[in-house]
Amino acid sequence: MPPQNSAHAPPFRVAMAGVVGRLIRCWCRRAVAGSLKVPALQLHVSKTAMGASQKDFENAMNQVKLLKEDPGNEVKLKLYALYKQATEGPCNTPKPGVFDLINKAKWEAWNALGSLPKETARQNYVDLVSGLSSSSDSSSQAKPEADRKQAEYETVVMTSEDGITKIMLNRPAKKNALTEQMYQEIMLALEAASKDDSTITVLTGNGDYYSSGNDLTNFTNIPPEGVEAKAKNSAILLRNFVGSFIDFPKPLVAVVNGPAVGISVTVLGLFDLVYATDRATFHTPFSHLGQTPEGCSSYTFPKIMGPAKAAEMLIFGKKLTAGEAYAQGLVTEVFPDSTFQKEVWTRLKAYSKLPQNALRISKQIIRSQEKEKLHAVNAKESSILQERWLSSECMNAIMNFFSQKAKL
Ligand code: COA
Repeated sequence: MPPQNSAHAPPFRVAMAGVVGRLIRCWCRRAVAGSLKVPALQLHVSKTAMGASQKDFENAMNQVKLLKEDPGNEVKLKLYALYKQATEGPCNTPKPGVFDLINKAKWEAWNALGSLPKETARQNYVDLVSGLSSSSDSSSQAKPEADRKQAEYETVVMTSEDGITKIMLNRPAKKNALTEQMYQEIMLALEAASKDDSTITVLTGNGDYYSSGNDLTNFTNIPPEGVEAKAKNSAILLRNFVGSFIDFPKPLVAVVNGPAVGISVTVLGLFDLVYATDRATFHTPFSHLGQTPEGCSSYTFPKIMGPAKAAEMLIFGKKLTAGEAYAQGLVTEVFPDSTFQKEVWTRLKAYSKLPQNALRISKQIIRSQEKEKLHAVNAKESSILQERWLSSECMNAIMNFFSQKAKL
């Protein structure tokens, strides 16, 4: 078993997802400091006729993290209690001592649910989050659309012009390493782009890197639920993140403005066009990190470049130049760095004037052949990684990265 303190945090290639416990803990700390009384739990259930699926539940856990307004202590405790009931069943732990105010408040909220069935708790959780999300959305409706869209993002910049929606990764000082927040914001931005009136959606990076992959500092946050819960939630986040690329309905273009690492490379097989500057490189150092492929690359890369070349990248971590990536079919076209932006955007603006529905339908015909397969691969890769993140190989590799940086 890996140690459970943050100094020896196990490695997780993706950010934590749905860390309801941490959120609640933080909320509860403030709540109890303000002499919160635990209320009786009564929920307005709006759509219990059909039980919420596990996927609805996972989505709701992610939504909780994105709430723009503090829902108040009473609601936070309800969320906590429903989460525990839905995942573990009726309260089964001893009542915390009288001075342990935080845990006592949480315990009482959970215990108040009695023998509520897990499925009902899951549905109630989904309903509660859905109510919170819509009231939070309606409170921001007064703002102009453009302001509201951008206000939702801190780590990406989203703009729409000339029929093109651009999602730009925006942590240039950290080489656009993907934090937990960034994963969530990219998913939100993709969701918004899928519904807006643009024809083409572009993902690109700000600064000299496209992206350095998962932000390795994500590994240092261990929730109170422990490392296994963290690995599980991280796998859920990864699966949802990759799933949003698999399901994206419009032409999706990667404008690879510089080196690309890890998950920013592996999902490229799910894009429709990949344009790269000749300065770009493509690197998936999974084995070096004790980890395994994700982003459906275990399936898309052998298909794109053949098993031998895919193995060189995915198993042995060979870094490809832009020219090599083009020769192997991962990249659509390479441009000289000096004219990259001009040439790419001119090309994309011309494409965006093509009949919108025809582009969309054509993309869907091509991709629909494999959607089911891709989702299955995504699920498998995520679940294998969930195990890898708990391995000592993985832990040592991440600790090496940080200790080498510390020595510089
Ligand atoms: N996670 C966390 N921080 C990262 C990061 C990552 N994936 N990539 C870059 N950073 C940070 C660096 O720690 C540094 O932070 P600091 O300025 O606070 O020291 C900053 O971004 C700039 O990176 P630096 O390493 O100084 O730039 P570089 O040009 O020498 O090297 C990389 C760039 C990408 C080659 C190097 O940072 C790296 O190897 N990162 C890890 C990549 C990785 O393994 N990703 C996971 C793949 S699964």
